[in-house]
Amino acid sequence: MNKETLLKELSKVNYPGLDKSILEMKIVDDLSIDENGKSEITLSMQNDEAFAVLESQLNDLFAGRVKVVRKSAAKKSIHYGNTANPNNRAPYAKKIVAVTSGKGGVGKSTVSVNLAVALAQKGFSVGLLDADVYGPNIPRMTSTAHEKLQWDENDKIIPSENFGIKIMSVGLTTPAADTPLVWRSSVAVSALIQFLEDVAWGALDFLVIDMPPGTGDIQLTMAQELPITAGVIVTTPQPVALDDVSRAIMMFKDIGVPIGGLVENMSYFIAPDTKKRYDIFGLGGGEKTAKKYAIPFLGKIPLDMQIREFSDDGTPAVAMGDKLQKGYYKNIVENLLKEIGE
Ligand SMILES: Nc1ncnc2c1ncn2[C@@H]1O[C@H](COP(=O)(O)OP(=O)(O)OP(=O)(O)O)[C@@H](O)[C@H]1O
Ligand SMILES: [Mg+2]
Repeated sequence: MNKETLLKELSKVNYPGLDKSILEMKIVDDLSIDENGKSEITLSMQNDEAFAVLESQLNDLFAGRVKVVRKSAAKKSIHYGNTANPNNRAPYAKKIVAVTSGKGGVGKSTVSVNLAVALAQKGFSVGLLDADVYGPNIPRMTSTAHEKLQWDENDKIIPSENFGIKIMSVGLTTPAADTPLVWRSSVAVSALIQFLEDVAWGALDFLVIDMPPGTGDIQLTMAQELPITAGVIVTTPQPVALDDVSRAIMMFKDIGVPIGGLVENMSYFIAPDTKKRYDIFGLGGGEKTAKKYAIPFLGKIPLDMQIREFSDDGTPAVAMGDKLQKGYYKNIVENLLKEIGE
């Protein structure tokens, strides 16, 4: 095999989980073929899991005829921080807001998008990072799902932009919305660290992070790798949701992440025809929980069919909704800014 054929083959090999070849990613550090036709490829990679995946893929591809070696000297800092003294992987962001909840489906992503856009409407420069690696909804919710990743001249990923905010999500790296990611959590975590370090965010007043559901690895890593200014906890009012949310609050408290406050989503429903109010999930659950854990209550958002439509259509309510709908999120942002002293 000559160098040309080898390069041609390598150009078809994508970096694990990304729609970009290892040549484009510039991780092929060296390529040699000796007089006996023995070839060796040196990959400069920091991620153990991704290297293992690539190594076996290349061994299969070349049926073992090409030796794959790893250049360990190129290892970047893999020094993980701890929550008492976190790293700062996002020194370009003045403030970092992490939107979380112990529970799935309570409206974290919808709140994240609308908070980010509301902050941008106030004149702040805002980045929105979708940390929900396995269920990335931010591209759809911001009408950026059709976009393809691009790189700038310094090999930094260019974030998508819409509604005045910069957006980064694993959903922008996979070719289709139904492509499942079967990453181990360590790969997911390193992808997120790459989104913090290798994206051309520019100077940000706020980096808003939409967390996945639960209280797991990703939440912990974010708290270790970023000095989070404020956690925003999203809940719905019913006791089952509040149990999970209590766990999220305790986790943040335990690992020393300051809590900006609690948002109660899907709080009540006003029937559009009769204007009658229904407290579908009960009344006052969010406020009670906020009181119990001595955290600020930032506001309520009712269950509103149009908010659901806005969110699924990729047109955030705070940008496209009526005065009332915009008001819910603006009110929450005002309260949050007060809490963090802006
Ligand atoms: N106030 C609301 N009124 C009506 N629908 C809403 C409201 N908030 C969110 N939704 C809808 O509820 C669904 C779940 O919301 P969202 O995806 O924001 O939740 P999530 O907590 O991020 O979920 P996951 O845990 O899966 O990440 C979405 O279809 C969204 O449009
Ligand atoms: Mg979500």
